[in-house]
Amino acid sequence: MPLHTPPVPMLPTLTTPAYGADWSPEQWDAATIDRDITLMVEARVTLVSIGIFSWARLEPRPGVYDLDWLVDVVDRLHAAGIAVDLATGTASPPAWMATNHPESLPVTAEGVRLGFGSRQQYCPSSAVYRERSRALAAALAERLGSHPGVLMWHINNEYACHVHECFCDACAAGFRTWLLDRHGDIAGLNTAWGTDFWSQRYATIDEVHPPAAAPTFLNPGQVLDWRRFCDAQVRTCFEGELEEIRARSDRPVTTNFMGAFPWLDYHRWSPLLDLVSDDSYPDPADPGAAAELAFTGDLMRGLGGGAPWLCMEQSPGAVQWRSRNASKRPGQHLLWSLARVAHGADGILQFQWRQSQRGAETFHAAMVPHAGRASRTWHETLALGEMLERLGPVVGQPTHAQVAVVVDWESQWARDAAVGPTAGEATFGDARRWHRSLWEAGYAVDLVGVDDDLHGYGLVVVPGLVVDRPHLSAQLAAAADAGTHVIVAGPAAIVDDALGAVLGGYLGTLQDLLGVRVVDHQVAGVTADSFYPSHDERGPDVFRISRTVATPAVASWHGLVAAELKGSTGLQGGRWAEVLAAPLTDRTGAYDAEAGPWPLAEDVEVVATFDGSGAGLDLAGRPAVTRRRTGRGAAWYVATDLDAPSRATLLDAALDAAGVAPVLRGLPDGVEAQRRGDVLFLLNHASTAALVRGVEGIDLLTGLTVTDEIRLDGLGAAVIVPQDDTASS
Ligand code: GLA
Ligand code: ZN
Repeated sequence: MPLHTPPVPMLPTLTTPAYGADWSPEQWDAATIDRDITLMVEARVTLVSIGIFSWARLEPRPGVYDLDWLVDVVDRLHAAGIAVDLATGTASPPAWMATNHPESLPVTAEGVRLGFGSRQQYCPSSAVYRERSRALAAALAERLGSHPGVLMWHINNEYACHVHECFCDACAAGFRTWLLDRHGDIAGLNTAWGTDFWSQRYATIDEVHPPAAAPTFLNPGQVLDWRRFCDAQVRTCFEGELEEIRARSDRPVTTNFMGAFPWLDYHRWSPLLDLVSDDSYPDPADPGAAAELAFTGDLMRGLGGGAPWLCMEQSPGAVQWRSRNASKRPGQHLLWSLARVAHGADGILQFQWRQSQRGAETFHAAMVPHAGRASRTWHETLALGEMLERLGPVVGQPTHAQVAVVVDWESQWARDAAVGPTAGEATFGDARRWHRSLWEAGYAVDLVGVDDDLHGYGLVVVPGLVVDRPHLSAQLAAAADAGTHVIVAGPAAIVDDALGAVLGGYLGTLQDLLGVRVVDHQVAGVTADSFYPSHDERGPDVFRISRTVATPAVASWHGLVAAELKGSTGLQGGRWAEVLAAPLTDRTGAYDAEAGPWPLAEDVEVVATFDGSGAGLDLAGRPAVTRRRTGRGAAWYVATDLDAPSRATLLDAALDAAGVAPVLRGLPDGVEAQRRGDVLFLLNHASTAALVRGVEGIDLLTGLTVTDEIRLDGLGAAVIVPQDDTASS
């Protein structure tokens, strides 16, 4: 089923979206702590995360706990009506651990053991770290697990954000055990990694090491397994703490994700959580920031199976960790907070409550800034609290998207681990581009994993899925039969899950659905480090030889024609282009059975063709986009990375064929519309005012009735509920 759940709030007791922050009372004196709680009440704060970096105060000496001060803080917050998201404090072990157990410190690929004095200085395989972090979680759960002020648990903090891999001996030993578990024995490992290449064959498991610094390219299968292992290793730390908490407390548990974080496969993590939470720091200087908010919001909703999630951190202003730390513009913090809610968040927390006076985050914005109440930030802190309090009708409401885009961490890892054919792709780069086109065009989108149910979507887009996923292929085929339009965009299914190339033509188990296979590909565009600059037109005599050399691949685009598509002139593919052929009927080793010119199968229509311009000189007349009608739906294949206008054109055609409508038609430039249940969010990301038509209801932000037309200020927003909803509540 698509992620269409009935209304369920993120936490059962919520009646309005949660509001709050990380708070570090250990950095402040008693008077400031009192003052902070008073200010929190003034700002309508309802939930604060405490204890995140408190380990050194909670366990000042090994095995000696001092939890009284924390219990006192929880008591006081509870008395003030503020709930606690209690962290287990295990993200930054104290100095005694580094001193007494230097082997607990992580080691880099170059063999450097990292030191104390920052944070996250632990190896995820370290026995002492695992034991002491479990013990701390247990001590906290024992003491506070049933405290009425504790609403939920926050295990660790941003797992792997600084240290996602460690090359110490404990990790090497763990890797060997993990490999035997996965591959059975050393023979299985040799086969999976293809160790007859470059004389890498292993006689025993003890000869196997983590992929540390090496002379040149590492074995890609080894790198991919290493990524899986590192993810699993960190997850084991999480599971250890989780077990201790579950044994002592019935409160829901989360750990904060970091959007499309490359190093952890959150599809493997989210089933362990009671609720998904996310930290979000788009750059206010980036015009694509709103698209990023939409993408990560949809990703978090997908990770939770459609359930509401919690924005655990965002910054009320500038961060301090970029090389340039742009401020948020007036109104932007409120708008972006609403964007989080519009994409499924049932709570908005910031990093952090009070701006630190010392330490590496002194110049990171906070809800209570250095200047105190005399600043715009404080006024926005108040305004956001007030705004969230009006959003009761939104809590628990699901999004009903008819479009899904598939994301797959293992495909990303495989792409990073493979040497070629494309390099340097950002995490989920393809999925982000397709998502952005859909978002720009005004469609609601679910971001789903390869194992999620696809039944019932009008359109499912599968971009950049380089690992062949037989289960997903079968699901896509069933959905397409039942009426879904499926768009697969290459490169797709070029390797198996051990990074072995798919033989007999790419697209593996997707070939039957799509009716095509890929027999060749070409990558265009000169690498920036080309030693010889291309000839210049003023010097025909100077460049006597090189000016006559035809290198179409110097262009980084492929021209396309697509008679059928509306507005189809000027369509372009990008650097990637493929030569398609009909699937082989017999794939049992006969992959060298045929030579060109590779006709397509009869049931495959050509939607777009390479026209021979740009880098496509040698592809002229070959199909670039195909479509195979299936039952009541269709399966489209895109054999190039379309540019944004071409992607928009193709999506228009597919969405139209699938009968999928945008959230609201005719939106002015800059305005995003999203719906949760029957609540409509209108978000104006532009600096100028906009008029939105076709809207009826009550704006929860102003209480005013809207009939047909509403004006949004620059960076302004509206949250519209149908009139009868408010009447009955
Ligand atoms: C992360 C961490 C916080 C803080 C912020 C600063 O999200 O979880 O502790 O360091 O970054 O932006
Ligand atoms: Zn280690």
